[in-house]
Amino acid sequence: MAQKEIHKIGIVGSGTMGSGIALLFALYNYKVVLVDKDDEALKKALVHIREHADPRLWGHVEDRIKTSTALSDLRDSDLVIEAVVEDPEVKKGLLKKLSSICGKNAIIATNTSSISINELGSAVADPSRFIGIHFMNPPKVIKLIEIVRGTKTSDKTVSTIGWLAREMEKEPIVINDTPGFVSNRLLFALIGEAIRLLDSGVASKEDIDAVMKHGVHHPMGPFELADFIGLDVALDVMKYLYRELKDEKYKPSPTIEKLVNEGKLGRKTREGFYRYG
Ligand code: NAI
Repeated sequence: MAQKEIHKIGIVGSGTMGSGIALLFALYNYKVVLVDKDDEALKKALVHIREHADPRLWGHVEDRIKTSTALSDLRDSDLVIEAVVEDPEVKKGLLKKLSSICGKNAIIATNTSSISINELGSAVADPSRFIGIHFMNPPKVIKLIEIVRGTKTSDKTVSTIGWLAREMEKEPIVINDTPGFVSNRLLFALIGEAIRLLDSGVASKEDIDAVMKHGVHHPMGPFELADFIGLDVALDVMKYLYRELKDEKYKPSPTIEKLVNEGKLGRKTREGFYRYG
């Protein structure tokens, strides 16, 4: 596929990331089909997209995003990005279905934040056209797109996605596959250590966040960031990294497990490590 032949983007999963990715592509004139298994999630996604779009551009965005609960509506997409729950088995099942629905030249991508691209690529028919496109939250704002190439991802697929990222004025960085990639290997080492400091009574979460904001110039402290990511997503990432890398620094603390079990998932449920208005 010539790079300029990417016009229509399919996105599966319309939560925090899927809706944000849909908004980004729509703003850059791509046609988007946003699919979720849950009709309510799609309705919420449109509200979320409207809240985050410049009101003057809403008509333009609305015209470009179609929603659907049927994966078959992705059959003529040039690129399909999955952004469903961070569970390898759910993602592999979905990718297998996408492989049989999408055209033979379509690129299939995952927005996973931690799962190995080689592992997920084992579920698609042609892993040369499979790649990790790791958008950060919120996709409209964050400049970086971490592009993760699996062992079988072709150079052409990598260059097409790099071109697409630059078309949307992003900074693509191409890395080789490893669980957690560069961003989340580093980030979750930090978040895990921050929770261990809290658990051992060294400092309060407010003070730990303040140290990183005022001392290291991080825009958010590790607890604010974990709430922003979503504690359920953060816990899934930690469990996966611990299992795959067998490194104690990724072992989730009972503190985060308890919050998730109580439904305190961070900003999206208005309570996590912190409470939100
Ligand atoms: P979320 O929980 O907000 O949304 C997931 C959506 O996927 C839900 O609407 C759910 O109904 C839908 N879904 C689940 N299984 C499905 C299926 N089989 N078919 C169709 N729809 C399905 O999750 P979020 O935060 O948007 O994360 C999605 C992915 O993006 C995960 O892989 C996560 O690791 C990754 N990610 C998350 C970031 C974050 O800051 N939250 C940042 C970067 C990547």
